Amino acid sequence: MEQKFVLNIIDKKQIPETEPERQYYFMDIAKEYVKQLSEAKGNPLTFHVSTFGCQMNARDSEKLVGILEKVGYVEEDSEKADFVIYNTCTVRENANNKVYGRLGYLNGFKKKNPFMMIGMCGCMMQEPTVVEKIKQSYRFVNLIFGTHNIYKFAELITTAMENSFGPQHKKGMSMTIDIWKDTDKIVEDLPVERKYSFKSGVNIMFGCNNFCSYCIVPYVRGRERSREPKEIIREIERLVADGVVEVMLLGQNVNSYGKNLETPMSFAELLQEIEKIEGLERIRFMTSHPKDLSDQLIEVMKHSKKICKHLHLPLQSGSSRILKEMNRRYDKEHYLELVEKIRAAVPDIALTTDIIVGFPGETEEDFEETLDVVRKVRYDSAFTFIYSKRTGTPAAAMEEQVPEEVVKNRFDRLLKEVQTISAEKASALTGQTLPVLIEEQNGQDEHLVTGRLSNNSTVHLPGSADLIGKIVDVTLTECKGFYYIGELS
Ligand code: SAH
Ligand code: SF4
Ligand code: F3S
Repeated sequence: MEQKFVLNIIDKKQIPETEPERQYYFMDIAKEYVKQLSEAKGNPLTFHVSTFGCQMNARDSEKLVGILEKVGYVEEDSEKADFVIYNTCTVRENANNKVYGRLGYLNGFKKKNPFMMIGMCGCMMQEPTVVEKIKQSYRFVNLIFGTHNIYKFAELITTAMENSFGPQHKKGMSMTIDIWKDTDKIVEDLPVERKYSFKSGVNIMFGCNNFCSYCIVPYVRGRERSREPKEIIREIERLVADGVVEVMLLGQNVNSYGKNLETPMSFAELLQEIEKIEGLERIRFMTSHPKDLSDQLIEVMKHSKKICKHLHLPLQSGSSRILKEMNRRYDKEHYLELVEKIRAAVPDIALTTDIIVGFPGETEEDFEETLDVVRKVRYDSAFTFIYSKRTGTPAAAMEEQVPEEVVKNRFDRLLKEVQTISAEKASALTGQTLPVLIEEQNGQDEHLVTGRLSNNSTVHLPGSADLIGKIVDVTLTECKGFYYIGELS
Protein backbone atom coordinates (compact mmCIF):
# COMPACT_ATOMS: atom_id res chain seq x y z
CA MET A 1 0.00 0.00 0.00
CA GLU A 2 1.30 3.46 -0.87
CA GLN A 3 2.43 5.34 2.19
CA LYS A 4 0.61 8.68 2.45
CA PHE A 5 1.44 9.93 5.91
CA VAL A 6 5.02 11.12 6.54
CA LEU A 7 6.30 11.32 10.09
CA ASN A 8 7.91 14.56 11.23
CA ILE A 9 11.27 13.26 12.53
CA ILE A 10 12.53 14.71 15.80
CA ASP A 11 16.15 15.86 16.04
CA LYS A 12 17.98 13.95 18.71
CA LYS A 13 20.29 16.00 20.90
CA GLN A 14 22.30 14.69 23.82
CA ILE A 15 21.04 11.15 23.86
CA PRO A 16 21.83 9.83 27.36
CA GLU A 17 24.47 7.13 27.40
CA THR A 18 23.39 5.45 30.63
CA GLU A 19 20.42 3.13 31.11
CA PRO A 20 17.55 3.29 31.86
CA GLU A 21 17.76 7.09 31.18
CA ARG A 22 18.45 6.47 27.50
CA GLN A 23 15.26 4.44 27.14
CA TYR A 24 13.16 7.11 28.89
CA TYR A 25 14.57 9.63 26.42
CA PHE A 26 13.41 7.45 23.51
CA MET A 27 10.03 6.86 25.14
CA ASP A 28 9.41 10.62 24.89
CA ILE A 29 10.25 10.59 21.19
CA ALA A 30 8.20 7.47 20.49
CA LYS A 31 5.31 9.10 22.32
CA GLU A 32 5.47 12.08 19.98
CA TYR A 33 5.49 9.75 16.96
CA VAL A 34 2.52 7.77 18.25
CA LYS A 35 0.71 11.07 18.71
CA GLN A 36 1.43 12.14 15.13
CA LEU A 37 0.34 8.78 13.75
CA SER A 38 -2.83 8.70 15.88
CA GLU A 39 -3.79 12.17 14.69
CA ALA A 40 -3.25 11.17 11.07
CA LYS A 41 -5.29 8.05 11.57
CA GLY A 42 -8.02 9.83 13.49
CA ASN A 43 -7.99 7.20 16.23
CA PRO A 44 -5.58 6.18 18.98
CA LEU A 45 -3.03 3.66 17.72
CA THR A 46 -3.59 0.18 19.11
CA PHE A 47 -1.24 -2.72 19.79
CA HIS A 48 -1.45 -6.44 20.35
CA VAL A 49 1.30 -8.68 21.74
CA SER A 50 1.03 -12.43 21.04
CA THR A 51 3.18 -14.51 23.33
CA PHE A 52 4.48 -18.00 22.64
CA GLY A 53 6.51 -20.23 24.94
CA CYS A 54 7.35 -20.09 28.62
CA GLN A 55 6.88 -17.81 31.61
CA MET A 56 10.05 -15.92 30.68
CA ASN A 57 8.44 -14.85 27.46
CA ALA A 58 5.20 -14.02 29.25
CA ARG A 59 7.13 -11.72 31.55
CA ASP A 60 9.06 -10.19 28.65
CA SER A 61 5.75 -9.44 26.96
CA GLU A 62 4.62 -7.54 30.05
CA LYS A 63 7.73 -5.40 29.64
CA LEU A 64 6.83 -4.72 26.00
CA VAL A 65 3.28 -3.81 27.02
CA GLY A 66 4.61 -1.49 29.75
CA ILE A 67 6.55 0.52 27.18
CA LEU A 68 3.85 0.45 24.50
CA GLU A 69 1.34 1.89 26.95
CA LYS A 70 3.84 4.45 28.18
CA VAL A 71 4.32 5.79 24.63
CA GLY A 72 0.58 6.04 24.03
CA TYR A 73 -0.48 2.85 22.30
CA VAL A 74 -3.76 1.35 23.48
CA GLU A 75 -4.06 -2.41 23.95
CA GLU A 76 -6.42 -4.29 21.64
CA ASP A 77 -7.51 -7.87 21.88
CA SER A 78 -7.03 -8.68 18.21
CA GLU A 79 -4.30 -9.09 15.64
CA LYS A 80 -5.95 -6.35 13.59
CA ALA A 81 -4.18 -3.83 15.85
CA ASP A 82 -1.88 -1.11 14.46
CA PHE A 83 1.19 -2.73 16.01
CA VAL A 84 1.24 -6.50 16.32
CA ILE A 85 4.21 -8.12 18.04
CA TYR A 86 5.00 -11.80 18.09
CA ASN A 87 7.14 -12.77 21.06
CA THR A 88 8.30 -16.15 19.83
CA CYS A 89 9.55 -19.46 21.22
CA THR A 90 11.82 -21.93 19.50
CA VAL A 91 12.17 -24.71 22.05
CA ARG A 92 10.53 -27.20 19.69
CA GLU A 93 10.33 -27.10 15.89
CA ASN A 94 6.51 -26.96 15.73
CA ALA A 95 6.58 -23.68 17.67
CA ASN A 96 8.47 -22.11 14.74
CA ASN A 97 6.15 -23.39 12.04
CA LYS A 98 3.13 -21.95 13.77
CA VAL A 99 4.65 -18.48 13.66
CA TYR A 100 5.37 -18.54 9.92
CA GLY A 101 1.81 -19.62 9.23
CA ARG A 102 0.38 -16.75 11.23
CA LEU A 103 2.70 -14.16 9.71
CA GLY A 104 1.16 -14.67 6.30
CA TYR A 105 -2.27 -14.13 7.79
CA LEU A 106 -1.10 -10.90 9.49
CA ASN A 107 0.06 -9.52 6.18
CA GLY A 108 -3.56 -9.60 5.04
CA PHE A 109 -4.41 -7.06 7.77
CA LYS A 110 -1.34 -5.00 7.05
CA LYS A 111 -2.29 -4.54 3.41
CA LYS A 112 -5.50 -2.87 4.52
CA ASN A 113 -4.02 -0.69 7.26
CA PRO A 114 -1.32 1.86 6.28
CA PHE A 115 -0.57 2.55 9.96
CA MET A 116 0.18 -1.05 10.82
CA MET A 117 3.57 -2.31 11.99
CA ILE A 118 4.58 -5.91 12.65
CA GLY A 119 7.29 -6.72 15.19
CA MET A 120 9.01 -10.05 15.84
CA CYS A 121 11.05 -10.78 18.93
CA GLY A 122 11.87 -13.56 21.37
CA CYS A 123 13.90 -16.72 21.17
CA MET A 124 13.27 -17.62 17.53
CA MET A 125 14.86 -14.33 16.43
CA GLN A 126 18.16 -15.38 18.03
CA GLU A 127 18.54 -17.96 15.27
CA PRO A 128 20.24 -16.46 12.22
CA THR A 129 18.42 -18.81 9.83
CA VAL A 130 15.06 -17.51 11.07
CA VAL A 131 16.00 -13.88 10.56
CA GLU A 132 17.32 -14.73 7.10
CA LYS A 133 14.04 -16.40 6.23
CA ILE A 134 12.00 -13.40 7.39
CA LYS A 135 14.26 -11.07 5.41
CA GLN A 136 13.74 -13.17 2.31
CA SER A 137 10.11 -14.20 2.50
CA TYR A 138 8.35 -11.85 4.93
CA ARG A 139 9.55 -8.42 3.83
CA PHE A 140 6.51 -6.77 5.34
CA VAL A 141 7.82 -7.23 8.91
CA ASN A 142 8.85 -3.83 10.35
CA LEU A 143 10.92 -4.71 13.40
CA ILE A 144 13.01 -7.70 14.47
CA PHE A 145 14.90 -7.87 17.74
CA GLY A 146 16.08 -10.61 20.07
CA THR A 147 16.05 -11.64 23.71
CA HIS A 148 19.16 -9.73 24.83
CA ASN A 149 18.18 -6.22 23.80
CA ILE A 150 14.55 -6.22 24.82
CA TYR A 151 15.35 -3.50 27.36
CA LYS A 152 16.07 -1.26 24.34
CA PHE A 153 12.50 -1.61 23.10
CA ALA A 154 11.71 2.12 23.35
CA GLU A 155 14.72 2.93 21.19
CA LEU A 156 13.88 0.13 18.77
CA ILE A 157 10.31 1.24 18.20
CA THR A 158 11.47 4.81 17.69
CA THR A 159 13.81 3.64 14.91
CA ALA A 160 11.17 1.31 13.50
CA MET A 161 8.62 4.12 13.31
CA GLU A 162 11.15 6.42 11.65
CA ASN A 163 12.08 3.72 9.14
CA SER A 164 8.48 2.75 8.47
CA PHE A 165 6.82 6.17 8.33
CA GLY A 166 9.64 8.72 8.00
CA PRO A 167 10.60 10.58 4.81
CA GLN A 168 13.29 8.04 3.98
CA HIS A 169 10.70 5.33 3.88
CA LYS A 170 10.66 3.56 0.56
CA LYS A 171 8.24 0.79 -0.06
CA GLY A 172 9.72 -2.54 1.00
CA MET A 173 12.81 -0.98 2.62
CA SER A 174 11.54 -0.40 6.10
CA MET A 175 12.73 -3.41 8.09
CA THR A 176 14.56 -2.56 11.32
CA ILE A 177 16.74 -5.39 12.65
CA ASP A 178 18.78 -5.49 15.84
CA ILE A 179 19.90 -8.84 17.25
CA TRP A 180 22.67 -9.36 19.80
CA LYS A 181 24.55 -12.61 20.31
CA ASP A 182 24.64 -12.33 24.10
CA THR A 183 24.81 -9.75 26.87
CA ASP A 184 25.93 -9.47 30.45
CA LYS A 185 23.75 -6.42 30.94
CA ILE A 186 20.70 -6.26 33.19
CA VAL A 187 18.82 -2.95 32.99
CA GLU A 188 16.55 -2.19 35.94
CA ASP A 189 13.67 0.23 36.43
CA LEU A 190 11.90 0.19 33.08
CA PRO A 191 8.11 0.38 32.87
CA VAL A 192 6.27 -2.94 32.99
CA GLU A 193 2.56 -3.65 32.84
CA ARG A 194 1.12 -6.66 34.64
CA LYS A 195 -1.49 -8.97 33.19
CA TYR A 196 -2.96 -9.55 36.65
CA SER A 197 -3.20 -6.91 39.37
CA PHE A 198 -2.61 -9.35 42.23
CA LYS A 199 0.13 -11.64 40.98
CA SER A 200 3.28 -11.16 39.00
CA GLY A 201 6.26 -12.97 37.59
CA VAL A 202 9.63 -11.67 38.77
CA ASN A 203 12.82 -12.51 36.88
CA ILE A 204 15.53 -13.49 39.31
CA MET A 205 17.98 -14.60 36.65
CA PHE A 206 18.36 -14.73 32.89
CA GLY A 207 19.93 -17.26 30.52
CA CYS A 208 21.10 -20.78 31.14
CA ASN A 209 24.51 -22.48 31.45
CA ASN A 210 23.40 -26.07 31.52
CA PHE A 211 23.49 -27.03 27.88
CA CYS A 212 21.24 -30.06 28.16
CA SER A 213 22.15 -31.73 24.89
CA TYR A 214 18.67 -31.45 23.31
CA CYS A 215 17.97 -27.87 24.33
CA ILE A 216 18.28 -24.64 22.36
CA VAL A 217 17.56 -22.29 25.26
CA PRO A 218 21.22 -21.62 26.23
CA TYR A 219 21.89 -20.58 22.62
CA VAL A 220 18.99 -18.17 22.40
CA ARG A 221 18.91 -16.83 25.95
CA GLY A 222 22.66 -16.57 26.55
CA ARG A 223 24.73 -17.19 29.65
CA GLU A 224 23.27 -17.36 33.09
CA ARG A 225 23.23 -14.09 35.03
CA SER A 226 21.44 -13.33 38.29
CA ARG A 227 19.83 -10.10 39.32
CA GLU A 228 21.11 -8.46 42.49
CA PRO A 229 19.04 -9.57 45.50
CA LYS A 230 18.37 -5.96 46.50
CA GLU A 231 16.88 -5.24 43.07
CA ILE A 232 14.64 -8.31 43.30
CA ILE A 233 13.48 -7.38 46.81
CA ARG A 234 12.88 -3.78 45.75
CA GLU A 235 10.78 -4.91 42.79
CA ILE A 236 8.70 -7.25 44.94
CA GLU A 237 8.19 -4.60 47.62
CA ARG A 238 6.90 -2.23 44.95
CA LEU A 239 4.63 -4.91 43.52
CA VAL A 240 3.21 -5.64 46.97
CA ALA A 241 2.61 -1.92 47.55
CA ASP A 242 0.69 -2.03 44.27
CA GLY A 243 -1.59 -4.88 45.36
CA VAL A 244 0.36 -8.01 44.44
CA VAL A 245 0.01 -10.93 46.87
CA GLU A 246 1.70 -13.70 44.88
CA VAL A 247 5.00 -13.71 42.99
CA MET A 248 6.42 -16.32 40.67
CA LEU A 249 10.23 -16.19 40.69
CA LEU A 250 11.47 -16.93 37.21
CA GLY A 251 14.65 -18.50 35.90
CA GLN A 252 15.62 -21.45 33.69
CA ASN A 253 17.30 -23.00 36.69
CA VAL A 254 16.40 -21.06 39.83
CA ASN A 255 18.35 -23.49 41.99
CA SER A 256 21.61 -22.13 40.68
CA TYR A 257 20.62 -18.53 41.47
CA GLY A 258 23.31 -16.21 42.75
CA LYS A 259 26.47 -18.01 41.70
CA ASN A 260 27.77 -15.16 39.55
CA LEU A 261 26.90 -12.33 41.95
CA GLU A 262 29.69 -10.25 43.45
CA THR A 263 28.55 -11.47 46.85
CA PRO A 264 27.20 -14.93 46.05
CA MET A 265 23.86 -15.86 47.56
CA SER A 266 21.97 -19.13 47.25
CA PHE A 267 18.40 -19.47 46.02
CA ALA A 268 17.37 -20.72 49.46
CA GLU A 269 18.82 -17.58 51.05
CA LEU A 270 17.06 -15.38 48.52
CA LEU A 271 13.77 -17.10 49.34
CA GLN A 272 14.29 -16.40 53.03
CA GLU A 273 14.77 -12.71 52.28
CA ILE A 274 11.67 -12.60 50.08
CA GLU A 275 9.66 -14.39 52.75
CA LYS A 276 10.25 -11.41 55.06
CA ILE A 277 8.42 -8.99 52.77
CA GLU A 278 5.31 -7.92 54.60
CA GLY A 279 2.07 -8.17 52.67
CA LEU A 280 3.43 -10.79 50.29
CA GLU A 281 1.37 -13.95 50.78
CA ARG A 282 2.53 -16.51 48.27
CA ILE A 283 5.82 -17.36 46.60
CA ARG A 284 6.17 -19.69 43.62
CA PHE A 285 9.21 -20.42 41.49
CA MET A 286 10.02 -21.99 38.15
CA THR A 287 12.07 -23.97 37.12
CA SER A 288 14.04 -26.18 39.48
CA HIS A 289 16.80 -28.28 38.02
CA PRO A 290 17.20 -31.50 40.03
CA LYS A 291 20.99 -31.35 39.91
CA ASP A 292 21.05 -28.12 41.94
CA LEU A 293 18.17 -28.72 44.34
CA SER A 294 19.85 -28.36 47.73
CA ASP A 295 19.00 -29.69 51.19
CA GLN A 296 19.05 -26.06 52.29
CA LEU A 297 16.23 -25.30 49.83
CA ILE A 298 14.17 -28.26 51.06
CA GLU A 299 14.68 -27.04 54.62
CA VAL A 300 13.53 -23.51 53.70
CA MET A 301 10.47 -24.90 51.93
CA LYS A 302 9.63 -27.00 54.96
CA HIS A 303 9.56 -24.02 57.32
CA SER A 304 8.19 -21.38 54.99
CA LYS A 305 4.69 -20.03 55.43
CA LYS A 306 4.63 -18.40 52.01
CA ILE A 307 6.27 -20.78 49.58
CA CYS A 308 3.52 -22.64 47.76
CA LYS A 309 3.22 -26.37 48.08
CA HIS A 310 4.15 -27.07 44.51
CA LEU A 311 7.43 -28.08 42.97
CA HIS A 312 7.99 -28.37 39.24
CA LEU A 313 10.93 -30.74 38.93
CA PRO A 314 11.65 -31.69 35.32
CA LEU A 315 12.63 -35.33 34.98
CA GLN A 316 13.15 -35.42 31.18
CA SER A 317 13.92 -39.15 31.29
CA GLY A 318 13.88 -41.93 33.88
CA SER A 319 16.82 -43.74 32.32
CA SER A 320 20.19 -42.89 33.87
CA ARG A 321 21.87 -43.72 30.59
CA ILE A 322 19.71 -41.28 28.64
CA LEU A 323 20.03 -38.65 31.37
CA LYS A 324 23.78 -38.87 30.89
CA GLU A 325 23.40 -38.43 27.13
CA MET A 326 21.11 -35.49 27.84
CA ASN A 327 23.84 -33.93 30.01
CA ARG A 328 21.36 -33.53 32.86
CA ARG A 329 23.97 -34.39 35.52
CA TYR A 330 21.73 -36.45 37.81
CA ASP A 331 20.59 -40.05 37.57
CA LYS A 332 17.37 -41.91 38.27
CA GLU A 333 18.38 -42.80 41.82
CA HIS A 334 19.34 -39.26 42.74
CA TYR A 335 16.05 -37.95 41.34
CA LEU A 336 14.00 -40.48 43.32
CA GLU A 337 15.96 -39.66 46.49
CA LEU A 338 15.21 -35.98 46.00
CA VAL A 339 11.50 -36.69 45.65
CA GLU A 340 11.60 -38.73 48.84
CA LYS A 341 13.37 -35.96 50.75
CA ILE A 342 10.95 -33.30 49.54
CA ARG A 343 7.90 -35.38 50.39
CA ALA A 344 9.31 -36.13 53.84
CA ALA A 345 9.80 -32.41 54.45
CA VAL A 346 6.57 -31.13 52.83
CA PRO A 347 4.17 -34.10 52.81
CA ASP A 348 1.31 -32.53 50.86
CA ILE A 349 3.45 -30.95 48.15
CA ALA A 350 2.26 -31.24 44.55
CA LEU A 351 4.95 -32.47 42.17
CA THR A 352 4.87 -31.76 38.47
CA THR A 353 7.39 -32.44 35.75
CA ASP A 354 8.52 -32.28 32.11
CA ILE A 355 9.34 -35.46 30.19
CA ILE A 356 10.83 -35.91 26.72
CA VAL A 357 10.06 -39.05 24.74
CA GLY A 358 12.21 -40.27 21.86
CA PHE A 359 15.58 -38.72 22.67
CA PRO A 360 18.16 -40.18 20.22
CA GLY A 361 19.08 -43.75 21.14
CA GLU A 362 16.17 -44.19 23.59
CA THR A 363 15.40 -47.93 23.74
CA GLU A 364 12.27 -49.64 24.99
CA GLU A 365 14.18 -50.39 28.23
CA ASP A 366 15.08 -46.72 28.65
CA PHE A 367 11.46 -45.77 28.12
CA GLU A 368 10.34 -48.35 30.69
CA GLU A 369 12.63 -46.61 33.19
CA THR A 370 10.76 -43.37 32.54
CA LEU A 371 7.43 -45.12 33.11
CA ASP A 372 8.88 -46.60 36.28
CA VAL A 373 9.76 -43.17 37.68
CA VAL A 374 6.32 -41.85 36.70
CA ARG A 375 4.69 -44.71 38.62
CA LYS A 376 6.95 -44.29 41.63
CA VAL A 377 6.69 -40.51 41.91
CA ARG A 378 3.02 -40.28 40.95
CA TYR A 379 3.09 -36.72 39.59
CA ASP A 380 0.14 -34.43 40.06
CA SER A 381 0.62 -33.51 36.45
CA ALA A 382 3.27 -33.77 33.78
CA PHE A 383 4.07 -32.02 30.53
CA THR A 384 5.10 -34.63 28.00
CA PHE A 385 6.99 -33.72 24.84
CA ILE A 386 8.07 -35.54 21.75
CA TYR A 387 11.78 -34.96 21.23
CA SER A 388 12.34 -32.25 18.67
CA LYS A 389 15.65 -32.00 16.85
CA ARG A 390 17.12 -28.49 17.29
CA THR A 391 19.86 -27.63 14.85
CA GLY A 392 23.09 -26.67 16.60
CA THR A 393 22.47 -28.71 19.74
CA PRO A 394 24.68 -31.77 20.41
CA ALA A 395 21.68 -34.15 20.30
CA ALA A 396 20.83 -33.08 16.75
CA ALA A 397 24.11 -34.63 15.59
CA MET A 398 23.54 -37.91 17.46
CA GLU A 399 22.94 -41.00 15.43
CA GLU A 400 20.06 -43.36 16.14
CA GLN A 401 17.22 -40.86 16.01
CA VAL A 402 14.20 -42.93 17.10
CA PRO A 403 11.66 -43.72 14.32
CA GLU A 404 8.56 -41.56 14.43
CA GLU A 405 6.02 -44.35 14.93
CA VAL A 406 8.01 -45.78 17.86
CA VAL A 407 8.11 -42.35 19.51
CA LYS A 408 4.41 -41.81 18.92
CA ASN A 409 3.59 -45.14 20.49
CA ARG A 410 5.71 -44.38 23.57
CA PHE A 411 4.27 -40.91 23.83
CA ASP A 412 0.72 -42.28 23.89
CA ARG A 413 1.60 -44.85 26.53
CA LEU A 414 3.29 -42.24 28.69
CA LEU A 415 0.41 -39.81 28.36
CA LYS A 416 -2.07 -42.47 29.39
CA GLU A 417 0.00 -43.36 32.46
CA VAL A 418 0.44 -39.72 33.46
CA GLN A 419 -3.26 -38.96 33.02
CA THR A 420 -4.43 -41.99 34.96
CA ILE A 421 -2.23 -41.05 37.89
CA SER A 422 -3.22 -37.35 37.83
CA ALA A 423 -6.88 -38.34 37.82
CA GLU A 424 -6.35 -40.63 40.81
CA LYS A 425 -4.48 -37.92 42.69
CA ALA A 426 -6.71 -35.04 41.73
CA SER A 427 -9.39 -35.61 44.34
CA ALA A 428 -6.97 -35.98 47.27
CA LEU A 429 -8.03 -32.72 48.91
CA THR A 430 -11.82 -33.13 48.61
CA GLY A 431 -13.53 -32.25 51.88
CA GLN A 432 -10.71 -30.00 53.15
CA THR A 433 -10.95 -26.25 53.74
CA LEU A 434 -7.96 -24.46 52.28
CA PRO A 435 -6.86 -20.96 51.26
CA VAL A 436 -7.59 -20.09 47.63
CA LEU A 437 -6.33 -17.04 45.74
CA ILE A 438 -9.26 -15.90 43.61
CA GLU A 439 -7.95 -15.05 40.15
CA GLU A 440 -10.83 -14.37 37.80
CA GLN A 441 -14.50 -14.47 37.09
CA ASN A 442 -15.65 -17.63 35.41
CA GLY A 443 -15.96 -17.12 31.65
CA GLN A 444 -19.30 -18.90 31.40
CA ASP A 445 -21.04 -17.89 34.59
CA GLU A 446 -20.63 -14.47 36.22
CA HIS A 447 -21.78 -15.85 39.57
CA LEU A 448 -18.73 -18.13 39.68
CA VAL A 449 -15.10 -17.26 40.33
CA THR A 450 -11.96 -19.29 39.76
CA GLY A 451 -8.93 -19.47 42.02
CA ARG A 452 -5.88 -21.49 42.88
CA LEU A 453 -4.82 -23.56 45.86
CA SER A 454 -1.29 -23.35 47.17
CA ASN A 455 -0.57 -26.59 45.27
CA ASN A 456 -1.63 -24.85 42.05
CA SER A 457 -4.91 -26.81 41.58
CA THR A 458 -7.83 -24.84 40.19
CA VAL A 459 -11.05 -24.30 42.16
CA HIS A 460 -14.39 -22.95 40.89
CA LEU A 461 -16.78 -21.53 43.45
CA PRO A 462 -19.78 -19.23 43.75
CA GLY A 463 -18.59 -15.65 44.30
CA SER A 464 -18.43 -12.21 42.78
CA ALA A 465 -15.72 -10.18 41.07
CA ASP A 466 -14.84 -8.26 44.24
CA LEU A 467 -13.11 -11.40 45.52
CA ILE A 468 -10.51 -11.23 42.74
CA GLY A 469 -7.01 -10.89 44.19
CA LYS A 470 -8.09 -12.01 47.65
CA ILE A 471 -7.07 -15.17 49.48
CA VAL A 472 -10.13 -16.79 51.02
CA ASP A 473 -10.83 -20.07 52.82
CA VAL A 474 -12.72 -22.46 50.60
CA THR A 475 -14.20 -25.87 51.36
CA LEU A 476 -13.52 -28.24 48.48
CA THR A 477 -16.80 -30.04 48.07
CA GLU A 478 -16.18 -32.02 44.91
CA CYS A 479 -13.45 -32.89 42.44
CA LYS A 480 -14.30 -32.83 38.76
CA GLY A 481 -11.34 -34.45 37.12
CA PHE A 482 -8.75 -31.69 37.00
CA TYR A 483 -10.42 -29.04 39.12
CA TYR A 484 -12.35 -28.70 42.35
CA ILE A 485 -15.76 -27.24 43.05
CA GLY A 486 -15.81 -25.37 46.34
CA GLU A 487 -17.68 -22.94 48.50
CA LEU A 488 -16.58 -20.07 50.72
CA SER A 489 -16.28 -21.29 54.28
N1 SAH B 1 14.81 -24.71 32.13
C1 SAH B 1 13.78 -25.64 32.21
C2 SAH B 1 13.14 -26.03 30.91
C3 SAH B 1 12.88 -25.03 29.85
S1 SAH B 1 12.29 -25.71 28.35
C4 SAH B 1 14.37 -26.91 32.81
O1 SAH B 1 15.51 -27.21 32.63
O2 SAH B 1 13.63 -27.61 33.41
C5 SAH B 1 10.80 -26.53 28.88
C6 SAH B 1 10.77 -27.98 28.55
O3 SAH B 1 10.78 -28.18 27.17
C7 SAH B 1 11.95 -28.79 29.05
O4 SAH B 1 11.84 -29.13 30.39
C8 SAH B 1 11.91 -29.99 28.15
O5 SAH B 1 11.14 -31.02 28.70
C9 SAH B 1 11.27 -29.47 26.89
N2 SAH B 1 12.23 -29.41 25.80
C10 SAH B 1 13.34 -28.66 25.71
N3 SAH B 1 13.98 -28.91 24.55
C11 SAH B 1 13.26 -29.85 23.90
C12 SAH B 1 13.43 -30.54 22.67
N4 SAH B 1 14.45 -30.31 21.88
N5 SAH B 1 12.48 -31.44 22.31
C13 SAH B 1 11.42 -31.69 23.11
N6 SAH B 1 11.23 -31.08 24.28
C14 SAH B 1 12.14 -30.18 24.68
FE1 SF4 C 1 17.33 -26.13 28.53
FE2 SF4 C 1 18.53 -27.64 30.30
FE3 SF4 C 1 18.78 -25.00 30.45
FE4 SF4 C 1 16.47 -26.14 31.03
S1 SF4 C 1 18.38 -26.40 32.15
S2 SF4 C 1 16.79 -24.36 29.75
S3 SF4 C 1 16.40 -27.86 29.62
S4 SF4 C 1 19.56 -26.32 28.85
FE1 F3S D 1 10.68 -21.00 24.41
FE2 F3S D 1 12.52 -19.22 24.83
FE3 F3S D 1 11.03 -20.03 26.81
S1 F3S D 1 12.70 -20.97 23.51
S2 F3S D 1 10.53 -22.10 26.26
S3 F3S D 1 10.32 -18.94 25.06
S4 F3S D 1 13.17 -19.45 26.91
